[in-house]
Amino acid sequence: MRILVTGAKGMLGSTLVTRLSCEHEVISASRDNFDIRDPLATRGEITRLAPELVVHAAAYTDVDGCETNPDLAYEVNALGVQNVALGCQEVGAEMLLCSTDFVFDGTARRPYIEWDQPKPLSVYGASKYAGERVIAHLLNRYYIVRMAWLYGPNGKNFVKTMLKLGEEQDSVSVVTDQVGSPTYTKDVAEGVVRLVESKNFGIYHMVNTGECSWNEFAKEIFRLAGKKVDVNPITSEELGRPAKRPAYSVLRNFALEKTIGDHMRPWQEALADFLKSEEA
Ligand SMILES: NC(=O)c1ccc[n+]([C@@H]2O[C@H](COP(=O)([O-])OP(=O)(O)OC[C@H]3O[C@@H](n4cnc5c(N)ncnc54)[C@H](OP(=O)(O)O)[C@@H]3O)[C@@H](O)[C@H]2O)c1
Repeated sequence: MRILVTGAKGMLGSTLVTRLSCEHEVISASRDNFDIRDPLATRGEITRLAPELVVHAAAYTDVDGCETNPDLAYEVNALGVQNVALGCQEVGAEMLLCSTDFVFDGTARRPYIEWDQPKPLSVYGASKYAGERVIAHLLNRYYIVRMAWLYGPNGKNFVKTMLKLGEEQDSVSVVTDQVGSPTYTKDVAEGVVRLVESKNFGIYHMVNTGECSWNEFAKEIFRLAGKKVDVNPITSEELGRPAKRPAYSVLRNFALEKTIGDHMRPWQEALADFLKSEEA
């Protein structure tokens, strides 16, 4: 397939480009090629490049930044998706949108499945949910793939931050009251390849299985890395970040399970694999 990947220089986008290139013709698009907020440039480039599928990984992902700059959040995460979807419509391309666990409010008592009602708490979550609705209105052949708590070889992420802090200090404070699904970008890339080859369009959750709090996640990072660092418990209120995060945003890969099979492994296994790699 001829696949255009947006956000190709981002944490997930760069890993998607590497993995998809093994079996497909991949065109990388970053902000240098076109700004997704520009409808003419975005639609023009998609028409010129004529992909069969667009994997849309570009987004304004600074969750606290979105809270202070909601216009930019909606411009990129809602209108940007609209521009890409209209481009897809023009050339008859399929589209895969990378979405997030932050569309949920975190009040559930069990892992969220794809048809639980989104109720975002933050501007970031609301703008991503707006993007989901846009694509569902404009296209017939689309995938919405919700993922969560990503880390991997490229870009800034929690695992890399913890490893760096572990070099500099012997204790860190990490929240205990947000529970989610840590997920390795390489596992998402693998899942995306399987999904787009299946043509089972629809909404999917795609996360490594199991759950933990950020505090437990940090402890496991230090344990696996063989570092003696005390991980102190704090609350989200004590941390005081501008955007509200869901207390419990664990996702269940229900649609994957029931269609192409859920091959996502437990988060601890994926994390161990990442830390063993030279890319950590
Ligand atoms: N990180 C997570 O934990 C997580 C969890 C769930 C879902 N997701 C979703 O997964 C996707 C990838 O996330 P990520 O963590 O890899 O994000 P990232 O590293 O921030 O990458 C996003 C990319 O989008 C580009 N971009 C932003 N605004 C743009 C614009 N107006 N025009 C063109 N490109 C633009 C950025 O370029 P610049 O660097 O030049 O701004 C960046 O390269 C996003 O859709 C995100 O919502 C992420």
